[in-house]
Amino acid sequence: MYTAPHIVIPQIKDLHKIDVYEANGGYGAYRKILGMTPDAVIDEVKKSGLRGRGGACFSTGMKWSFMPKGNDKPKYLVINGDESEPGSFKDRQILEYNPHQLIEGILIAGYAMGIKSAFIYIRGEYHKWVKIMQTAVDEAYAKGYIGEKMKSVFGGDYTMEIVVHKGAGAYVCGEETAMMSSLEGDRGYPRFKPPFPANKGLWGMPTTINNVETLATVPPIISMGSHAYSQIGAVGHCGTLLYGLSGHLNKPGVYELPTDVLLTDLIYKYGGGVPGNKKVKAVIPGGSSMPPLHGDEIEGVVMNNEALKAYKTFIGTGGVMVMDEDTDIPKLLLRIVHFYHHESCGQCTPCREGCGWMEKLLKRIVKGDATTEDIDLLMSVANNIDGNTICALGEAAAWPVQGFLRKFRSEFEAKVKTNRSFIPLNVVHGRRASADTLLPA
Ligand SMILES: Cc1cc2nc3c(=O)[nH]c(=O)nc-3n(C[C@H](O)[C@H](O)[C@H](O)COP(=O)(O)O)c2cc1C
Ligand code: SF4
Repeated sequence: MYTAPHIVIPQIKDLHKIDVYEANGGYGAYRKILGMTPDAVIDEVKKSGLRGRGGACFSTGMKWSFMPKGNDKPKYLVINGDESEPGSFKDRQILEYNPHQLIEGILIAGYAMGIKSAFIYIRGEYHKWVKIMQTAVDEAYAKGYIGEKMKSVFGGDYTMEIVVHKGAGAYVCGEETAMMSSLEGDRGYPRFKPPFPANKGLWGMPTTINNVETLATVPPIISMGSHAYSQIGAVGHCGTLLYGLSGHLNKPGVYELPTDVLLTDLIYKYGGGVPGNKKVKAVIPGGSSMPPLHGDEIEGVVMNNEALKAYKTFIGTGGVMVMDEDTDIPKLLLRIVHFYHHESCGQCTPCREGCGWMEKLLKRIVKGDATTEDIDLLMSVANNIDGNTICALGEAAAWPVQGFLRKFRSEFEAKVKTNRSFIPLNVVHGRRASADTLLPA
């Protein structure tokens, strides 16, 4: 069933139906681990080199090993299908084309960590995919692959209950602690870490949060073995990724490819090149929060987290956004920052105020009303958000600003005046601003 590179979304017709999934070896990986101890399963996932697909690229086996052993408290698994980052649209492909592989991954993760309840949290706007996932869960319940009937179907004592939960359309709820607040019925506010979810998570209980693609990758790892999986793709960040190609491309879409694929192959071989054969000006490699690559540096870039570090960026969610030579970079950045400003939950000052200031400064730059000092001020605001917030939404807003200013400063400078020439009206006092702001045009 699993032929690289299509292991997360194999090209099999009607795979979303449980009978088709089973006819192609589905639920075999779960049967296989029933002959292993939970620790041996965690070890296998560790050895495979699987790293989280939700953005941070953390070792999945390591994360699972942080869960306390024993069953004296309820433990929870939360599956992150919020997928609200601009440029990211790959998890919904799994929900649509291979939902049973996700369910099987949940069963394996649950068995390994001794978890008996799982919540699949799906983005509020994903009505279609919520329905498909719910149908798959219902099918699996009917067959006894989830729930109490598991005891008679698979033998043993282990059972798992799965709930499909629809979010309400807030990007911040994709952040793992905000997701837990949301699941508990509260406002989706992120929480300070530590304590980490493995110690104090959902309803104060030990909890693991994994991305949809992460868990859907687990059954093939078990089926083919950790060694075989670790040989796919690049050393240090192995396997396949669902690359979501968007922007100025002839063939945008989701492509499952090994992690040693070249960015230029993604753009020209799979993405069909840039419309009108225009030049590439910039590429965001992993969703809108990742710093960009300059068009001049894309040659030879390998699309995995380790390789991208040399370009001061990361693979994030694998959402590759391509911008052609006509792109207005300050305007593009304004659009990105507007999103983060809108989505900030407002709990911490650097993010709440800083995102607003960055948006105001960028509006000024785009309008041609800014000075060079405003560019430096924009960088300073971004630097002061970075690392000073409760959750990483602050960084998600600051990183593209820092990255675009670092690599495309001349595009911003071209829009500003060396001295402010407009004359701001002092509305409160009904008079013109003081003499020192009245600079010659
Ligand atoms: C603002 C924000 C939004 C996020 N949105 C998502 C998301 O939609 N899906 C996701 O899997 N992870 C998202 N994350 C990352 C999660 O907090 C978490 O790291 C991830 O779900 C862990 O799964 P993994 O280890 O399998 O990657 C987001 C993080 C932040 C800070
Ligand atoms: S960084 Fe932003 S989104 Fe995250 S908790 Fe602070 S204010 Fe809320």
